[in-house]
Amino acid sequence: MNDQKAKILLVDDDQSLLRLLSMRLRAAGYDVTTARSGEEALGKLANLQPQLLISDLRMQGMDGMALFEILHERNPLLPVIILTAHGTIPEAVAAAQRGVFGYLTKPFDSTELMNRVRQAMHIGAARGDSGATAPDGDWRRDIISRSPAMEELLERARRVAGSNASILIQSESGTGKELLARAIHRASPRHDAPFVGVNCSAIPEQLLESELFGHVKGSFTGATHNRKGLFQAAEGGTLFLDEIGDMPLSFQVKLLRALQEQEIRPVGATHSEPTDVRIISATHHNLEQAVAEGRFRDDLYYRLNVVLLELPALRERREDIPLLASHFIRHVAERSDKAAKTFAPDAMELLVRHPWPGNARQLLNVAEQTFVLTNGPIIPASQVQKALRDKPTELVSLGEARDRFERDYLVRLLQITEGNVSQAARLAQRNRTEFYKLLNRHHLEPGLFREASSN
Ligand SMILES: Nc1ncnc2c1ncn2[C@@H]1O[C@H](COP(=O)(O)OP(=O)(O)OP(=O)(O)O)[C@@H](O)[C@H]1O
Ligand SMILES: [Mg+2]
Repeated sequence: MNDQKAKILLVDDDQSLLRLLSMRLRAAGYDVTTARSGEEALGKLANLQPQLLISDLRMQGMDGMALFEILHERNPLLPVIILTAHGTIPEAVAAAQRGVFGYLTKPFDSTELMNRVRQAMHIGAARGDSGATAPDGDWRRDIISRSPAMEELLERARRVAGSNASILIQSESGTGKELLARAIHRASPRHDAPFVGVNCSAIPEQLLESELFGHVKGSFTGATHNRKGLFQAAEGGTLFLDEIGDMPLSFQVKLLRALQEQEIRPVGATHSEPTDVRIISATHHNLEQAVAEGRFRDDLYYRLNVVLLELPALRERREDIPLLASHFIRHVAERSDKAAKTFAPDAMELLVRHPWPGNARQLLNVAEQTFVLTNGPIIPASQVQKALRDKPTELVSLGEARDRFERDYLVRLLQITEGNVSQAARLAQRNRTEFYKLLNRHHLEPGLFREASSN
Protein backbone atom coordinates (compact mmCIF):
# COMPACT_ATOMS: atom_id res chain seq x y z
CA MET A 1 0.00 0.00 0.00
CA ASN A 2 1.24 3.44 -0.86
CA ASP A 3 1.28 5.58 2.27
CA GLN A 4 1.68 8.76 0.28
CA LYS A 5 -1.83 8.66 -1.09
CA ALA A 6 -3.52 7.38 2.03
CA LYS A 7 -6.55 9.34 3.22
CA ILE A 8 -6.90 10.48 6.80
CA LEU A 9 -9.98 11.92 8.41
CA LEU A 10 -8.98 14.21 11.27
CA VAL A 11 -11.56 15.22 13.88
CA ASP A 12 -11.04 17.81 16.59
CA ASP A 13 -13.11 20.69 17.90
CA ASP A 14 -9.96 22.69 18.57
CA GLN A 15 -9.49 24.69 15.40
CA SER A 16 -5.83 25.55 15.93
CA LEU A 17 -4.81 21.99 16.67
CA LEU A 18 -6.76 20.83 13.66
CA ARG A 19 -4.81 23.26 11.48
CA LEU A 20 -1.46 22.32 12.96
CA LEU A 21 -2.01 18.60 12.69
CA SER A 22 -3.35 18.65 9.17
CA MET A 23 -0.39 20.74 8.12
CA ARG A 24 2.03 18.17 9.51
CA LEU A 25 0.18 15.23 8.03
CA ARG A 26 -0.07 16.90 4.63
CA ALA A 27 3.61 17.69 4.77
CA ALA A 28 4.18 13.97 5.26
CA GLY A 29 2.22 13.33 2.09
CA TYR A 30 -1.16 12.27 3.40
CA ASP A 31 -4.48 13.33 1.99
CA VAL A 32 -6.15 14.97 5.00
CA THR A 33 -9.81 15.87 5.45
CA THR A 34 -10.84 17.67 8.63
CA ALA A 35 -14.04 17.73 10.66
CA ARG A 36 -14.81 19.84 13.73
CA SER A 37 -17.22 17.41 15.35
CA GLY A 38 -18.13 13.74 15.43
CA GLU A 39 -21.35 14.51 13.59
CA GLU A 40 -19.51 16.31 10.79
CA ALA A 41 -17.05 13.41 10.57
CA LEU A 42 -19.85 10.89 10.13
CA GLY A 43 -21.33 13.02 7.36
CA LYS A 44 -18.04 13.13 5.49
CA LEU A 45 -17.16 9.54 6.01
CA ALA A 46 -19.33 7.80 3.46
CA ASN A 47 -17.83 9.58 0.46
CA LEU A 48 -14.34 9.72 1.79
CA GLN A 49 -13.54 6.13 2.77
CA PRO A 50 -10.37 7.03 4.65
CA GLN A 51 -7.64 4.58 5.62
CA LEU A 52 -7.31 6.12 9.07
CA LEU A 53 -9.36 8.19 11.46
CA ILE A 54 -7.72 10.43 14.05
CA SER A 55 -10.11 11.90 16.57
CA ASP A 56 -9.98 13.94 19.72
CA LEU A 57 -11.48 12.16 22.72
CA ARG A 58 -13.33 15.01 24.37
CA MET A 59 -15.50 17.04 22.04
CA GLN A 60 -18.75 18.92 22.24
CA GLY A 61 -21.67 16.73 21.18
CA MET A 62 -20.56 13.31 20.03
CA ASP A 63 -17.24 12.49 21.68
CA GLY A 64 -14.39 10.50 20.18
CA MET A 65 -15.45 7.25 21.79
CA ALA A 66 -19.04 7.49 20.58
CA LEU A 67 -17.74 8.23 17.10
CA PHE A 68 -15.44 5.24 17.33
CA GLU A 69 -18.27 2.93 18.43
CA ILE A 70 -20.39 3.89 15.43
CA LEU A 71 -17.48 3.54 13.04
CA HIS A 72 -16.39 0.26 14.53
CA GLU A 73 -19.85 -1.17 13.87
CA ARG A 74 -19.75 -0.04 10.26
CA ASN A 75 -16.15 -0.84 9.51
CA PRO A 76 -14.27 -2.81 12.17
CA LEU A 77 -11.11 -2.77 10.07
CA LEU A 78 -10.67 1.00 10.03
CA PRO A 79 -7.82 1.94 12.40
CA VAL A 80 -8.66 4.76 14.78
CA ILE A 81 -6.20 6.89 16.75
CA ILE A 82 -7.61 8.82 19.67
CA LEU A 83 -6.06 12.06 20.88
CA THR A 84 -6.31 12.83 24.55
CA ALA A 85 -5.45 15.71 26.76
CA HIS A 86 -3.10 15.00 29.61
CA GLY A 87 -5.02 13.61 32.56
CA THR A 88 -7.49 11.54 30.59
CA ILE A 89 -5.20 8.52 30.32
CA PRO A 90 -7.68 6.13 32.00
CA GLU A 91 -10.26 6.99 29.36
CA ALA A 92 -7.71 6.44 26.65
CA VAL A 93 -6.79 3.10 28.12
CA ALA A 94 -10.47 2.15 28.21
CA ALA A 95 -10.63 3.16 24.57
CA ALA A 96 -7.73 0.94 23.65
CA GLN A 97 -9.45 -1.91 25.41
CA ARG A 98 -12.42 -1.52 23.14
CA GLY A 99 -10.33 -1.92 20.04
CA VAL A 100 -9.07 1.56 19.22
CA PHE A 101 -5.77 1.25 17.41
CA GLY A 102 -3.89 3.64 19.60
CA TYR A 103 -3.92 6.90 21.43
CA LEU A 104 -1.68 9.89 21.77
CA THR A 105 -1.50 12.17 24.74
CA LYS A 106 -1.34 15.89 24.04
CA PRO A 107 1.04 17.52 23.68
CA PHE A 108 2.69 14.94 21.44
CA ASP A 109 5.70 15.38 19.27
CA SER A 110 5.76 15.02 15.53
CA THR A 111 7.81 11.86 15.43
CA GLU A 112 5.52 10.05 17.79
CA LEU A 113 2.50 11.06 15.76
CA MET A 114 4.07 10.04 12.46
CA ASN A 115 5.19 6.70 13.87
CA ARG A 116 1.70 6.00 15.05
CA VAL A 117 0.16 6.98 11.75
CA ARG A 118 2.57 4.81 9.80
CA GLN A 119 1.90 1.84 12.06
CA ALA A 120 -1.84 2.32 11.75
CA MET A 121 -1.60 2.45 7.95
CA HIS A 122 0.46 -0.68 8.01
CA ILE A 123 -2.02 -2.54 10.17
CA GLY A 124 -4.96 -1.23 8.18
CA ALA A 125 -3.37 -2.57 5.02
CA ALA A 126 -2.74 -5.95 6.62
CA ARG A 127 -6.30 -6.12 7.90
CA GLY A 128 -7.69 -5.30 4.51
CA ASP A 129 -5.84 -8.20 2.97
CA SER A 130 -8.04 -11.18 3.72
CA GLY A 131 -5.14 -13.59 3.28
CA ALA A 132 -3.27 -11.94 6.13
CA THR A 133 -5.76 -12.64 8.89
CA ALA A 134 -6.32 -15.95 10.61
CA PRO A 135 -9.56 -17.72 9.77
CA ASP A 136 -12.39 -16.88 12.16
CA GLY A 137 -12.37 -18.83 15.39
CA ASP A 138 -9.15 -20.60 14.61
CA TRP A 139 -7.11 -18.17 16.67
CA ARG A 140 -8.74 -19.39 19.90
CA ARG A 141 -8.87 -23.04 19.03
CA ASP A 142 -6.82 -24.10 22.10
CA ILE A 143 -8.87 -22.17 24.60
CA ILE A 144 -11.74 -24.21 25.97
CA SER A 145 -14.53 -22.14 27.44
CA ARG A 146 -18.18 -21.34 27.34
CA SER A 147 -18.64 -19.09 30.35
CA PRO A 148 -19.85 -15.58 29.58
CA ALA A 149 -16.93 -14.12 31.56
CA MET A 150 -14.41 -15.89 29.33
CA GLU A 151 -16.32 -15.16 26.15
CA GLU A 152 -16.39 -11.48 27.01
CA LEU A 153 -12.67 -11.49 27.69
CA LEU A 154 -11.89 -13.35 24.45
CA GLU A 155 -14.01 -10.94 22.48
CA ARG A 156 -12.01 -8.07 23.93
CA ALA A 157 -8.77 -9.90 23.23
CA ARG A 158 -9.79 -10.41 19.61
CA ARG A 159 -10.64 -6.75 19.20
CA VAL A 160 -7.29 -5.53 20.53
CA ALA A 161 -5.30 -8.23 18.75
CA GLY A 162 -5.36 -6.18 15.57
CA SER A 163 -3.76 -3.14 17.14
CA ASN A 164 -0.18 -2.71 18.26
CA ALA A 165 -1.21 -1.78 21.79
CA SER A 166 0.82 -3.38 24.56
CA ILE A 167 -1.22 -5.91 26.47
CA LEU A 168 -0.83 -6.90 30.10
CA ILE A 169 -2.40 -10.19 31.12
CA GLN A 170 -2.81 -10.28 34.86
CA SER A 171 -4.40 -13.23 36.59
CA GLU A 172 -3.84 -16.08 38.99
CA SER A 173 -1.42 -18.91 38.24
CA GLY A 174 -2.63 -21.53 35.83
CA THR A 175 -5.50 -19.51 34.38
CA GLY A 176 -4.13 -19.72 30.85
CA LYS A 177 -2.10 -16.53 30.42
CA GLU A 178 0.37 -18.01 28.01
CA LEU A 179 -2.38 -19.70 26.05
CA LEU A 180 -4.14 -16.38 25.70
CA ALA A 181 -0.95 -14.57 24.65
CA ARG A 182 -0.40 -17.10 21.86
CA ALA A 183 -4.00 -16.81 20.75
CA ILE A 184 -3.74 -13.02 20.55
CA HIS A 185 -0.65 -13.34 18.41
CA ARG A 186 -2.49 -15.76 16.14
CA ALA A 187 -5.39 -13.31 15.78
CA SER A 188 -3.07 -10.41 15.02
CA PRO A 189 -1.76 -9.24 11.65
CA ARG A 190 1.64 -10.35 12.92
CA HIS A 191 0.67 -14.01 13.02
CA ASP A 192 3.09 -15.04 10.28
CA ALA A 193 6.01 -13.53 12.17
CA PRO A 194 7.46 -15.20 15.29
CA PHE A 195 5.93 -15.41 18.73
CA VAL A 196 8.80 -15.39 21.21
CA GLY A 197 8.23 -16.03 24.89
CA VAL A 198 10.63 -15.26 27.71
CA ASN A 199 10.22 -15.98 31.38
CA CYS A 200 11.67 -12.91 33.08
CA SER A 201 11.92 -14.63 36.47
CA ALA A 202 14.02 -17.47 35.08
CA ILE A 203 16.86 -15.35 33.72
CA PRO A 204 19.57 -14.07 36.07
CA GLU A 205 19.67 -10.30 36.29
CA GLN A 206 23.12 -9.95 34.68
CA LEU A 207 21.99 -11.92 31.63
CA LEU A 208 18.65 -10.25 30.98
CA GLU A 209 20.06 -7.44 28.89
CA SER A 210 22.09 -9.65 26.59
CA GLU A 211 19.29 -12.21 26.42
CA LEU A 212 16.75 -9.62 25.31
CA PHE A 213 18.88 -7.18 23.31
CA GLY A 214 21.72 -9.44 22.17
CA HIS A 215 25.41 -8.66 22.47
CA VAL A 216 28.46 -8.12 20.33
CA LYS A 217 31.53 -10.28 20.34
CA GLY A 218 33.96 -9.42 23.10
CA SER A 219 31.52 -7.27 25.08
CA PHE A 220 32.04 -9.45 28.17
CA THR A 221 33.92 -12.59 29.15
CA GLY A 222 32.36 -15.47 27.29
CA ALA A 223 30.87 -13.32 24.52
CA THR A 224 32.78 -15.09 21.77
CA HIS A 225 30.32 -14.29 18.99
CA ASN A 226 27.82 -11.65 18.08
CA ARG A 227 24.53 -12.87 19.36
CA LYS A 228 21.01 -11.74 18.58
CA GLY A 229 18.60 -11.15 21.42
CA LEU A 230 14.97 -12.12 21.80
CA PHE A 231 13.81 -8.74 20.52
CA GLN A 232 15.57 -9.46 17.24
CA ALA A 233 14.19 -12.99 17.22
CA ALA A 234 10.67 -11.63 17.53
CA GLU A 235 11.14 -8.93 14.87
CA GLY A 236 7.83 -8.18 13.17
CA GLY A 237 6.03 -10.46 15.60
CA THR A 238 5.13 -10.66 19.28
CA LEU A 239 7.40 -10.73 22.31
CA PHE A 240 5.79 -12.34 25.33
CA LEU A 241 7.33 -11.16 28.60
CA ASP A 242 6.13 -13.72 31.13
CA GLU A 243 6.36 -13.11 34.89
CA ILE A 244 7.10 -9.46 34.20
CA GLY A 245 6.45 -8.68 37.88
CA ASP A 246 9.72 -10.42 38.69
CA MET A 247 11.82 -8.28 36.40
CA PRO A 248 14.54 -6.57 38.47
CA LEU A 249 14.16 -2.83 38.89
CA SER A 250 17.59 -2.22 37.42
CA PHE A 251 16.53 -3.71 34.12
CA GLN A 252 13.09 -2.13 34.03
CA VAL A 253 14.47 1.24 33.00
CA LYS A 254 16.33 -0.33 30.06
CA LEU A 255 13.23 -2.11 28.88
CA LEU A 256 11.24 1.08 29.20
CA ARG A 257 13.74 2.95 27.06
CA ALA A 258 13.64 0.26 24.39
CA LEU A 259 9.86 0.39 24.24
CA GLN A 260 9.72 4.15 24.18
CA GLU A 261 12.34 4.60 21.50
CA GLN A 262 11.43 1.43 19.64
CA GLU A 263 15.15 0.86 19.52
CA ILE A 264 17.47 -1.59 21.20
CA ARG A 265 21.17 -1.52 21.75
CA PRO A 266 22.93 -4.90 21.99
CA VAL A 267 25.36 -5.13 24.92
CA GLY A 268 28.69 -3.68 23.83
CA ALA A 269 27.32 -2.16 20.62
CA THR A 270 27.91 1.47 19.78
CA HIS A 271 24.67 1.96 17.87
CA SER A 272 21.04 1.22 18.51
CA GLU A 273 18.92 -0.61 16.02
CA PRO A 274 15.21 -0.14 15.36
CA THR A 275 12.85 -2.80 16.57
CA ASP A 276 9.28 -3.63 15.69
CA VAL A 277 7.69 -6.02 18.17
CA ARG A 278 4.33 -6.18 19.84
CA ILE A 279 4.64 -6.63 23.58
CA ILE A 280 2.38 -8.88 25.58
CA SER A 281 3.37 -9.24 29.21
CA ALA A 282 1.93 -11.44 31.91
CA THR A 283 2.04 -11.64 35.66
CA HIS A 284 0.26 -13.36 38.49
CA HIS A 285 1.29 -10.56 40.85
CA ASN A 286 -0.76 -7.47 41.36
CA LEU A 287 1.46 -5.03 39.48
CA GLU A 288 -0.40 -1.99 40.67
CA GLN A 289 0.48 -2.96 44.19
CA ALA A 290 4.08 -3.61 43.17
CA VAL A 291 4.15 -0.06 41.80
CA ALA A 292 2.73 1.31 45.04
CA GLU A 293 5.40 -0.53 46.98
CA GLY A 294 8.19 0.72 44.72
CA ARG A 295 9.05 -2.70 43.30
CA PHE A 296 7.90 -1.86 39.80
CA ARG A 297 8.41 1.37 37.87
CA ASP A 298 5.18 3.20 37.28
CA ASP A 299 6.24 4.53 33.87
CA LEU A 300 6.97 1.02 32.65
CA TYR A 301 3.72 -0.19 34.15
CA TYR A 302 1.73 2.35 32.11
CA ARG A 303 3.68 1.44 28.98
CA LEU A 304 2.92 -2.25 29.34
CA ASN A 305 -0.60 -1.88 30.59
CA VAL A 306 -2.22 -0.10 27.67
CA VAL A 307 -4.74 -2.90 27.55
CA LEU A 308 -5.32 -4.98 30.66
CA LEU A 309 -6.77 -8.45 30.24
CA GLU A 310 -7.72 -10.33 33.37
CA LEU A 311 -8.49 -13.99 32.99
CA PRO A 312 -11.16 -15.01 35.48
CA ALA A 313 -10.15 -17.64 38.04
CA LEU A 314 -11.58 -21.07 37.39
CA ARG A 315 -13.84 -20.88 40.46
CA GLU A 316 -15.43 -17.79 38.93
CA ARG A 317 -16.45 -19.74 35.84
CA ARG A 318 -17.47 -23.10 37.12
CA GLU A 319 -19.48 -23.81 34.01
CA ASP A 320 -16.15 -24.28 32.25
CA ILE A 321 -14.99 -27.02 34.63
CA PRO A 322 -16.83 -30.01 33.08
CA LEU A 323 -15.76 -28.85 29.65
CA LEU A 324 -12.13 -28.50 30.67
CA ALA A 325 -12.08 -31.71 32.70
CA SER A 326 -13.37 -33.69 29.72
CA HIS A 327 -10.97 -31.94 27.40
CA PHE A 328 -7.98 -32.67 29.65
CA ILE A 329 -8.91 -36.29 30.21
CA ARG A 330 -9.25 -36.80 26.44
CA HIS A 331 -5.96 -35.08 25.93
CA VAL A 332 -4.21 -37.32 28.48
CA ALA A 333 -5.65 -40.45 26.81
CA GLU A 334 -4.52 -39.35 23.36
CA ARG A 335 -1.08 -38.42 24.53
CA SER A 336 -0.51 -41.75 26.26
CA ASP A 337 -2.19 -43.72 23.49
CA LYS A 338 -4.60 -45.34 25.93
CA ALA A 339 -8.34 -45.98 25.78
CA ALA A 340 -10.56 -43.03 26.69
CA LYS A 341 -11.89 -42.61 30.23
CA THR A 342 -14.58 -40.38 31.64
CA PHE A 343 -15.38 -38.94 35.05
CA ALA A 344 -18.29 -40.51 36.92
CA PRO A 345 -21.10 -38.00 37.56
CA ASP A 346 -20.31 -37.67 41.27
CA ALA A 347 -16.62 -37.29 40.45
CA MET A 348 -17.49 -34.46 38.10
CA GLU A 349 -19.60 -32.90 40.82
CA LEU A 350 -16.57 -32.85 43.11
CA LEU A 351 -14.51 -31.21 40.41
CA VAL A 352 -17.11 -28.54 39.87
CA ARG A 353 -17.26 -27.72 43.57
CA HIS A 354 -13.53 -27.55 44.17
CA PRO A 355 -12.11 -24.01 44.60
CA TRP A 356 -9.10 -24.64 42.31
CA PRO A 357 -6.46 -22.29 43.69
CA GLY A 358 -4.16 -23.54 40.91
CA ASN A 359 -6.85 -23.07 38.26
CA ALA A 360 -6.78 -24.92 34.91
CA ARG A 361 -3.23 -26.14 35.44
CA GLN A 362 -4.26 -27.84 38.69
CA LEU A 363 -7.29 -29.36 36.99
CA LEU A 364 -4.99 -30.73 34.33
CA ASN A 365 -2.81 -32.28 37.03
CA VAL A 366 -5.81 -33.90 38.68
CA ALA A 367 -6.94 -35.26 35.32
CA GLU A 368 -3.50 -36.76 34.69
CA GLN A 369 -3.26 -38.24 38.15
CA THR A 370 -6.73 -39.80 38.22
CA PHE A 371 -6.34 -41.13 34.69
CA VAL A 372 -3.20 -43.03 35.63
CA LEU A 373 -4.60 -44.35 38.89
CA THR A 374 -7.94 -45.58 37.50
CA ASN A 375 -8.11 -49.01 35.89
CA GLY A 376 -11.57 -49.04 34.30
CA PRO A 377 -13.09 -46.57 31.84
CA ILE A 378 -14.90 -44.57 34.55
CA ILE A 379 -13.00 -42.41 37.02
CA PRO A 380 -14.80 -42.66 40.36
CA ALA A 381 -15.36 -39.85 42.87
CA SER A 382 -13.08 -41.59 45.35
CA GLN A 383 -10.16 -41.22 42.99
CA VAL A 384 -10.85 -37.54 42.50
CA GLN A 385 -11.24 -37.10 46.23
CA LYS A 386 -7.78 -38.57 46.70
CA ALA A 387 -6.26 -36.37 44.05
CA LEU A 388 -7.72 -33.36 45.78
CA ARG A 389 -5.80 -34.60 48.84
CA ASP A 390 -8.80 -36.13 50.50
CA LYS A 391 -9.89 -32.77 51.76
CA PRO A 392 -13.63 -32.44 51.36
CA THR A 393 -13.74 -28.82 50.38
CA GLU A 394 -15.94 -26.36 52.08
CA LEU A 395 -16.83 -23.58 49.75
CA VAL A 396 -17.61 -20.13 51.03
CA SER A 397 -18.16 -16.99 49.05
CA LEU A 398 -15.29 -14.55 48.55
CA GLY A 399 -17.11 -12.03 50.74
CA GLU A 400 -17.47 -14.58 53.52
CA ALA A 401 -13.81 -15.62 53.20
CA ARG A 402 -12.68 -12.00 53.39
CA ASP A 403 -14.89 -11.39 56.41
CA ARG A 404 -13.47 -14.35 58.26
CA PHE A 405 -9.95 -13.32 57.45
CA GLU A 406 -10.58 -9.74 58.54
CA ARG A 407 -12.09 -10.83 61.86
CA ASP A 408 -9.23 -13.21 62.65
CA TYR A 409 -6.77 -10.51 61.75
CA LEU A 410 -8.41 -7.95 64.03
CA VAL A 411 -8.55 -10.42 66.90
CA ARG A 412 -4.85 -11.08 66.54
CA LEU A 413 -4.09 -7.37 66.48
CA LEU A 414 -6.07 -6.81 69.66
CA GLN A 415 -4.37 -9.75 71.33
CA ILE A 416 -0.94 -8.46 70.42
CA THR A 417 -1.67 -4.91 71.55
CA GLU A 418 -3.67 -6.08 74.56
CA GLY A 419 -6.66 -4.07 73.48
CA ASN A 420 -4.77 -0.83 72.79
CA VAL A 421 -6.78 0.57 69.89
CA SER A 422 -4.36 3.33 68.88
CA GLN A 423 -1.53 0.87 68.64
CA ALA A 424 -3.62 -1.70 66.81
CA ALA A 425 -4.82 0.91 64.33
CA ARG A 426 -1.25 1.97 63.70
CA LEU A 427 -0.17 -1.59 63.00
CA ALA A 428 -3.06 -2.01 60.58
CA GLN A 429 -2.18 1.34 59.00
CA ARG A 430 -5.68 2.68 59.51
CA ASN A 431 -6.77 5.77 61.38
CA ARG A 432 -8.56 5.34 64.67
CA THR A 433 -12.04 6.22 63.39
CA GLU A 434 -11.77 3.76 60.56
CA PHE A 435 -10.40 1.13 62.89
CA TYR A 436 -13.27 1.55 65.35
CA LYS A 437 -15.69 1.09 62.49
CA LEU A 438 -13.99 -2.18 61.59
CA LEU A 439 -14.18 -3.38 65.19
CA ASN A 440 -17.86 -2.48 65.33
CA ARG A 441 -18.59 -4.33 62.14
CA HIS A 442 -17.16 -7.49 63.67
CA HIS A 443 -18.66 -6.85 67.11
CA LEU A 444 -15.23 -6.84 68.71
CA GLU A 445 -14.82 -5.15 72.09
CA PRO A 446 -11.23 -4.02 72.76
CA GLY A 447 -11.93 -3.86 76.52
CA LEU A 448 -12.27 -7.63 76.64
CA PHE A 449 -8.71 -8.02 75.44
CA ARG A 450 -7.49 -5.64 78.12
CA GLU A 451 -9.22 -7.53 80.89
CA ALA A 452 -8.00 -10.84 79.61
CA SER A 453 -4.41 -9.64 79.68
CA SER A 454 -4.51 -8.05 83.11
CA ASN A 455 -5.80 -11.24 84.71
N1 LIG B 1 -9.16 -22.40 28.76
C1 LIG B 1 -8.28 -23.37 28.61
N2 LIG B 1 -8.48 -24.34 27.70
C2 LIG B 1 -7.60 -25.34 27.55
N3 LIG B 1 -6.47 -25.46 28.25
C3 LIG B 1 -6.21 -24.52 29.18
C4 LIG B 1 -7.09 -23.44 29.39
N4 LIG B 1 -6.57 -22.66 30.35
C5 LIG B 1 -5.41 -23.23 30.71
N5 LIG B 1 -5.19 -24.36 30.01
C6 LIG B 1 -4.03 -25.25 30.16
O1 LIG B 1 -3.62 -25.17 31.52
C7 LIG B 1 -2.20 -25.08 31.61
C8 LIG B 1 -1.81 -23.75 32.23
O2 LIG B 1 -2.02 -22.71 31.30
P1 LIG B 1 -0.96 -21.52 31.10
O3 LIG B 1 0.42 -22.05 31.18
O4 LIG B 1 -1.34 -20.75 29.90
O5 LIG B 1 -1.30 -20.72 32.42
P2 LIG B 1 -0.57 -19.47 33.08
O6 LIG B 1 -1.65 -18.52 33.50
O7 LIG B 1 0.49 -18.97 32.17
O8 LIG B 1 0.03 -20.12 34.38
P3 LIG B 1 1.29 -19.63 35.29
O9 LIG B 1 0.87 -18.36 35.97
O10 LIG B 1 1.41 -20.78 36.24
O11 LIG B 1 2.44 -19.47 34.38
C9 LIG B 1 -1.66 -25.26 30.21
O12 LIG B 1 -1.38 -26.60 30.01
C10 LIG B 1 -2.82 -24.82 29.34
O13 LIG B 1 -2.78 -25.45 28.10
MG1 LIG C 1 2.59 -18.86 32.49
